Amino acid sequence: MAKKYVFVSGKGGVGKSSVALGIARSMSEKGLRVLIADFDIGLRSLDLMLGVSETVVFDWGDVILGRCSIKDAVINKGSLAFFPAPVAFDEAFTAEEVRNLFDVLDGDFDFMLFDAPAGLGEAFELACSAAGNAVLVTTPDSVCVRSCGTAAAKVRALGFENPELIINRFVEKPVTKGRLLNIDDCIDSVAAKLIGVVPEDFAIVTSSVTGIQPDKNSPASKAFDRICLRLNGERVPLFED
Ligand SMILES: Nc1ncnc2c1ncn2[C@@H]1O[C@H](COP(=O)(O)OP(=O)(O)OP(=O)(O)O)[C@@H](O)[C@H]1O
Ligand SMILES: [Mg+2]
Repeated sequence: MAKKYVFVSGKGGVGKSSVALGIARSMSEKGLRVLIADFDIGLRSLDLMLGVSETVVFDWGDVILGRCSIKDAVINKGSLAFFPAPVAFDEAFTAEEVRNLFDVLDGDFDFMLFDAPAGLGEAFELACSAAGNAVLVTTPDSVCVRSCGTAAAKVRALGFENPELIINRFVEKPVTKGRLLNIDDCIDSVAAKLIGVVPEDFAIVTSSVTGIQPDKNSPASKAFDRICLRLNGERVPLFED
């Protein structure tokens, strides 16, 4: 059975899509079978970040509506499988429809990663509906950390008892100068188990524009590798030695 994680944050723009994609790429490189699904209905981004926007014809909404098969809608980029989100919110999907769709694919993947939209509304709940656990993503600033704490409470209310936490865009210097929160402050505020710290890395920005994977030795890629191993149950230190 696939392990299914939804990536959530509360506030937008903290790096949910970038982090979910980085981890998915790392998983596929390690030989794990992984599907990443965009749940940002109307504002999808993963197709661009993966450099496949020109090849998207169908999305998971089309599958639910019976317009195409799963095979027609899932795009394979190397060994990574990608399910695009609907371009518009003009159809209503139920949690049950979404759950059933991804349950069908259970045996085909080791991991399924669901990239939730910003906010804590209907679309967020839909993204959570097929997942078995939630990964909270925040940047280390008080505004995003507070919204991440609210998202943590919300996912707990939805039944995810032990959400995990990733701090993204971490920079050492401003933290020591007190402008941003330190790692302990983030953990205390969100009250979730930390599974990774991803540094600020310009390679992520260029990659999301070009659709080309960041260098494997870039600081963020190395952080994604460690998170991937931890999600796969391996004991890996949070930081590089
Ligand atoms: N570790 C990082 N270092 C530098 N830039 C980053 C990092 N993570 C994300 N970014 C940049 O931050 C911006 C927002 O990232 P992303 O789209 O992944 O956020 P998001 O939380 O998915 O946003 P939304 O809530 O709108 O879906 C992008 O320009 C991305 O390149
Ligand atoms: Mg996003």
